[in-house]
Amino acid sequence: MIKKLVSYVAEFKKDAILTPIFVALEAVMETIIPLLMAWIIDNGVGKGNMKYVCVVGAAMLAVAFISLTCGVLSGKYSASASSGFARNLRRAMYYNIQNYSFSNIDKYSTAGLITRLTTDVTNVQNAFQMVIRMFVRAPFMLVFAMGMSFYINAKLSLVFLGAIVFLGIILYFIMTRVHPYFMQVFKKYDDLNASVQENLTAIRTVKAYVREEHEINKFYKASETLYKYFIRAEKLIIINAPAMQFAVYTCILLLSWLGAKMIVSKTMTTGELMSMFAYTTNILISLMIISMVFVMVIMSKASAERIVEVLEEKSDLQSPENPICEVKDGAITFKNVNFSYSKSLDKCVLEDVNIKINSGETIGIIGGTGSAKSTLVQLIPRLYDTTSGSVEVGGIDVKNYDIETLRDEVSMVLQKNVLFSGTIKENLRWGNKNASDEELIAACKQAQADEFIENFPDKYDTFIEQGGSNVSGGQKQRLCIARALLKKPKILILDDSTSAVDTKTDALIRKAFKETIPDTTKIIIAQRISSVQDADRIIVLNDGKIDGFGTHDELLKSNNIYIEVYESQVKGADNNESK
Ligand SMILES: Nc1ncnc2c1ncn2[C@@H]1O[C@H](COP(=O)(O)OP(=O)(O)OP(=O)(O)O)[C@@H](O)[C@H]1O
Ligand SMILES: [Mg+2]
Repeated sequence: MIKKLVSYVAEFKKDAILTPIFVALEAVMETIIPLLMAWIIDNGVGKGNMKYVCVVGAAMLAVAFISLTCGVLSGKYSASASSGFARNLRRAMYYNIQNYSFSNIDKYSTAGLITRLTTDVTNVQNAFQMVIRMFVRAPFMLVFAMGMSFYINAKLSLVFLGAIVFLGIILYFIMTRVHPYFMQVFKKYDDLNASVQENLTAIRTVKAYVREEHEINKFYKASETLYKYFIRAEKLIIINAPAMQFAVYTCILLLSWLGAKMIVSKTMTTGELMSMFAYTTNILISLMIISMVFVMVIMSKASAERIVEVLEEKSDLQSPENPICEVKDGAITFKNVNFSYSKSLDKCVLEDVNIKINSGETIGIIGGTGSAKSTLVQLIPRLYDTTSGSVEVGGIDVKNYDIETLRDEVSMVLQKNVLFSGTIKENLRWGNKNASDEELIAACKQAQADEFIENFPDKYDTFIEQGGSNVSGGQKQRLCIARALLKKPKILILDDSTSAVDTKTDALIRKAFKETIPDTTKIIIAQRISSVQDADRIIVLNDGKIDGFGTHDELLKSNNIYIEVYESQVKGADNNESK
């Protein structure tokens, strides 16, 4: 895991190495200052030597200045290294997520991915910055200050050793207890983000159902649990502070008492005792920093694991080694296809599907909700792979195509389609980024969208809000159809894409298809018989199995499900008319 993460710092190797060097220099300079002070007191002030005071005083100033410069430089380099590291991590994660297949996406929640891209990366970034600055500085300072104090007075320095052992035990106790809480905290973060994301993206539904109170409670609960876990972790961490205080004051007391005795017995000078006090703070502060860095590292370990998981997730749909980059025609064949979302054959959503569709045919698909209509067509542009059996397009197994080529030739209007924030033109050009204005208009005419677009004050430059919230459901569907048409595909799939469009417009769209794209294979999933009855053939799906496949007239004679649906819709319409 560390190796994987380190590879993202490579670009900032120089900064990452310079930081600890400057930090170490800064620490050395800082520890020299108390020694110089001892000299001034003992040799200068003690002996009334003003010149000595001035010279060593100037040296002290110089050392302080170098220390300051090193501090500034280390800050600069550490900031650059850690933010660069975070940038690279985010880029790599984002890039990898774009390659995820539908089934990879099913595995992570959107909220979980967002937490990983934001909070988790920030945690790792902070920990990294702490590590390169403090993890070098603190042990370095500790060792250096210990060395200096042993140099000044070895006996007295034993007091420090006692303090280190005491604090070490306390730290170990805190570390082992705190880690499990932090592991929990990040899981709770996901829940919190999921709650926020769900609420904010569906805020209109929340309002329509007057569920604000419920949603507030849900959020309150999620943030309350997070708060509780943080408090528990922090409660343990703050034990650090009194332990630290205790160690500092005990050291000072012992040093004063033992030091005074030594001064009286002339085994130590006043200046030496003064610098010993300065080293007390140095040593104990280093210990505290080491403990804080440990906490950060432990906290970020959980985050780092979650990041690496995203980075290492391999898309389970890869283009083959020598992909075919041309789709001959729009013929489609399903051979003994079984499909299950969980990849286990005993829970199949599609069972033993065998169909052959000729290029240029118009095929309707009808079936109850959950009968696997969407699942069936998602296999054609290889949004999912079959669990067993094969799907062929243009006579060749979809697994042999270059995925991009295949998806360009098989254009699909998804059931849950979305528009992105941007103008209508920008949205349409998702279909074909080089499309001319004339092509855009032609596609919109086929999708019966031209008329309402022309009625907008800004026409094709009308701005679409996020998720297409400022156009009606039917208008959105027609824009999505136009967008799919712009690909000029060999196969066009409409998954319930005219459900919000009135029957007259729906018929006009089908008429336009017949006239303008006769060679394109068209697959139309619909709930209304009227949307599919003039198709060349119609597939009736029932619970993941093909129940019937034929023309409207054939099915009316032989297929019970089709007859039932037809009668309920036609009779329903008759009843409405007779009212
Ligand atoms: N991403 C998914 N992960 C797991 N199961 C899924 C997923 N998508 C659909 N399913 C399941 O597969 C079955 C078929 O769903 P599918 O969406 O294909 O039905 P459908 O015929 O398109 O229904 P509708 O008319 O409501 O759109 C359902 O039982 C559904 O719960
Ligand atoms: Mg569906």
